[in-house]
Amino acid sequence: MRVLFIGDIVGSGGRETLQTYLPRLKRKYQPTFTIVNGENAAGGRGITEKIAKSFFELGAGVITMGNHTWDNKEIFEFIDHENKIIRPANYPPGTPGLGYTFIRSNQHELAVINLMGRTFLPATDCPFRTVDQLLDKIRKRTPYIFVDFHAEATSEKQAMGWFLDGRVSAVVGTHTHVQTGDARILPKGTAYLTDVGMVGPYDSILGMETEAVLKKFITQLPVRFEVASGRMQLNGVIIDINPTSGVAERIKTFRIDDEHPFLE
Ligand SMILES: [Fe+2]
Repeated sequence: MRVLFIGDIVGSGGRETLQTYLPRLKRKYQPTFTIVNGENAAGGRGITEKIAKSFFELGAGVITMGNHTWDNKEIFEFIDHENKIIRPANYPPGTPGLGYTFIRSNQHELAVINLMGRTFLPATDCPFRTVDQLLDKIRKRTPYIFVDFHAEATSEKQAMGWFLDGRVSAVVGTHTHVQTGDARILPKGTAYLTDVGMVGPYDSILGMETEAVLKKFITQLPVRFEVASGRMQLNGVIIDINPTSGVAERIKTFRIDDEHPFLE
């Protein structure tokens, strides 16, 4: 069983890049399940129903979100009747939408959980206790479990990896937009990656125009950040899961940009 996960899709350039490469990536890697993070898809902040539909049409099975979940107000109109878009499970009880979902392919069912970190991000319920409680339920239904941990601090992401080692198939981080080089299988069989990286402008600072971010750092004046344009990049990861045990057997990152052209 193979999972393809593609990181934070940023703005229209990111969406076009996904459209260009997702069908080719699916042909190349033949994933059983495809998951994308869409929290930056609408102009860098949130997602619209039209964009979400386009991702599903391209072949995404689940869309995960993060701290920008509510930034495009349109989401309140569709999140409650779209159970393949998930927002962090550790938002307070009563929050619209779901924090986890299941996708099926032939005889296999994969659970996908979205969690958000609490270090340098808005306060939420404890992601560790939240996932602990969810796993009691989810593991009764399937041993194949993918976690998108949307968090800022590397330490918090690593902590989640070790916390869930042996209990889920994979813990992959999102939010920091730069792919990390630490893909590995933890001792009890959980695939781990601190951050999968983004789909968005290559000449940018985390997807935003460099000029504006530089101005902010240099002057400390209020600056409006806009999504950058120009050359694009796409970052993702492939995880192979043992179809009997749910344990991860292999994790491999990939990137597509001017330095790493896509090879069929
Ligand atoms: Fe984020």
